[in-house]
Amino acid sequence: MSEITPEDVRQRAYRLRAELRRHEHLYYVLDRPEISDAEFDALMIELRGIEADHPELVTPDSPTQRVGGAPREDLEKAPHSSVMLSLDNAFDDDELRDFDRRARELADVEALDYVGELKLDGVSLVVRYAGGAPSLALTRGDGEQGEVITPNARTLRTVPLSIALQTLDAAGVPPDFEVRGEVVMPRAAFERLNAQQLAEDKPAYANPRNVAAGTLRMLDASVTASRRLDFYPYLLLAGGAAVFDSHWASLEALHGLGFKINPHRARLHGVDELFAFRDEWLGKREGLPYDIDGLVFKVDDLALQERLGATARAPRWAIACKPAAQQAETVVRNIEVQVGRTGAVTPRAVLEPVFVGGVTVSHATLHNAQEIERLGLQIGDRVVVVRSGDVIPKVVRVAAEGAERRPFRMPASCPVCDEPVERPEGEAVTRCNNVSCSARLKESILHFAHRSAMDIDGLGAWLVDAVVDGGLVKDLADLYTLTEAQLADLTKDTKVSKTRLGEKSAARVMDALERSKTVPLRRLVYGLGIRHVGERTAELLAARYPSVEGLAQATVEQLEEVDEVGPRIAESIRTFFESGRNRELIERLRRHGLRLEDEPAPPDAQPADSAVAGKTFVLTGTLQEMTRGEAAARIKAAGGKVSSSVSGKTDYVVAGESPGSKLQKALQLEVEVIDENELLELLTVRTPEG
Ligand code: IVH
Repeated sequence: MSEITPEDVRQRAYRLRAELRRHEHLYYVLDRPEISDAEFDALMIELRGIEADHPELVTPDSPTQRVGGAPREDLEKAPHSSVMLSLDNAFDDDELRDFDRRARELADVEALDYVGELKLDGVSLVVRYAGGAPSLALTRGDGEQGEVITPNARTLRTVPLSIALQTLDAAGVPPDFEVRGEVVMPRAAFERLNAQQLAEDKPAYANPRNVAAGTLRMLDASVTASRRLDFYPYLLLAGGAAVFDSHWASLEALHGLGFKINPHRARLHGVDELFAFRDEWLGKREGLPYDIDGLVFKVDDLALQERLGATARAPRWAIACKPAAQQAETVVRNIEVQVGRTGAVTPRAVLEPVFVGGVTVSHATLHNAQEIERLGLQIGDRVVVVRSGDVIPKVVRVAAEGAERRPFRMPASCPVCDEPVERPEGEAVTRCNNVSCSARLKESILHFAHRSAMDIDGLGAWLVDAVVDGGLVKDLADLYTLTEAQLADLTKDTKVSKTRLGEKSAARVMDALERSKTVPLRRLVYGLGIRHVGERTAELLAARYPSVEGLAQATVEQLEEVDEVGPRIAESIRTFFESGRNRELIERLRRHGLRLEDEPAPPDAQPADSAVAGKTFVLTGTLQEMTRGEAAARIKAAGGKVSSSVSGKTDYVVAGESPGSKLQKALQLEVEVIDENELLELLTVRTPEG
């Protein structure tokens, strides 16, 4: 027998690496193992042995190198190659149809090609490849910057550690590219982990998504390596541009490069196929080995995707459909009508209270008379109610006709001011056109005072009822004529008790009114309640026209030049400012000292007496009112500090939606956890002077 030469050892190591890689791919990507776990381990042990004896033979892409990585001190941040957007949701058939219609209109075609995918309920991961090897891996972070978790990502068996340049070339993918996808922990792995936790007397984890998020951020990447996490890419980018003509082709190419692409995907044509795909997979979701939180539909043609573009939040070429799990059946006891801010008279169903989507619901919107007709709904019927996200509950269909059902008729006069209501030809909405209708005024005030608008804390529904019904407020500007004494004397009269507002609360409202005079212009523009002008549009308008005067003078054509402002919005803004009543309102607001233009805030404006000053905050999860970046900026402006990791020195952890491992850490260290509202409160509270 001839002696083993160094070349033989080198060759053996090379073969073992290739074999192990092939088996990893078969096992983790294709779910089609050819050898047993023990045989796999034996190959790995042999390779480790060789590498231990011959460190010069260790290659960075060796399967042995997935494990390990020294513990890191903290997670660094790095910018994303392009901002990581969210997805808009379609909660029902109409919303999905709307999405398709908008995309078709923009594309100017009869029917579009889509790709249907599962929306995996995990955490997003970005992996950048350079020369065919992973060079940087990032979490989503705040969408603009992610946390660097390269060593952790390298431990995932579904992240190829090296892709031959010829393979890339043959697939038509450049050597430097980026994949974005979702990391999930299969349910079975999650259950095993929890069983182990319990056996070790440790607390169980809440769900696979939290574990996946925590595991990816582990400082010790060997912990990441010890857990089964799968990476499913859903996007390929190269130099900021698309590589292929279609999304489908990019997924196929990634699959060819060894990535695990979710097999439950389909090319779909036209909206009906979207419905079919959605219903099929929402029905089968329980049988999947991992959690999903819906489906995603993407316009297949990448050139068209580019043309469709994105809003600040989400692309216009994709939509997520949520499972319709948040639904329940109940009985419609009555149908009543409400008058909104624009005078719209809206019927709503009074329900037998029912628990749905985590809350008890006793009302559901019915939109308009046509909708009631479409549903075939009568009072007394049994209906299906859905509640998705923070959307108002909605009646989606009649489940069974009530034994003593009776039809609903839209009233001929306003239920509040008794003036006749009107339903213009061709419109679905019935309106009360009496501008001094108190219901309209109350709604306008509530909108004006809302946290996202003028943020007049304490001016809630009953107080608005009281000031309007008491004749103290006849328009928005009258709010600023209120005195502390007037407010303090108002009483909340419920059937069981009478409560006087009192001096303290009155002073709080007065303070909030005073503070509202200097809110940024975008909030005032939103608060005015101009039809079709939501928060986002108000922000864009204020950025273009930094004063109300400028906005009031803009022509329809000029307004249409503002991003996302179309003819309908532009007309509505013009109509608003053409009204003499509204112009007078603006003038009175000005006389009451409201700042009607944006001024750059003076540097260091924040006094040190803010409740935030000197405190250290850690932010985690998605906030609703602002991005984490904005929150951090506001905390800093108020004299607080923001840190990226939780420690004994942390004063507050602000937890948004889907918080990460920082929340767990906060609970461990018994650091105070607050939500976004509490943060906003802290930001406005001042400690006593002196
Ligand atoms: S596409 C710009 N496809 O859902 C659009 N996202 O709100 C990029 N997600 O956190 C997203 N499965 O990580 C896309 N098949 C899929 C997905 C998916 C899960 C996650 C994604 C993001 C969230 C979007």
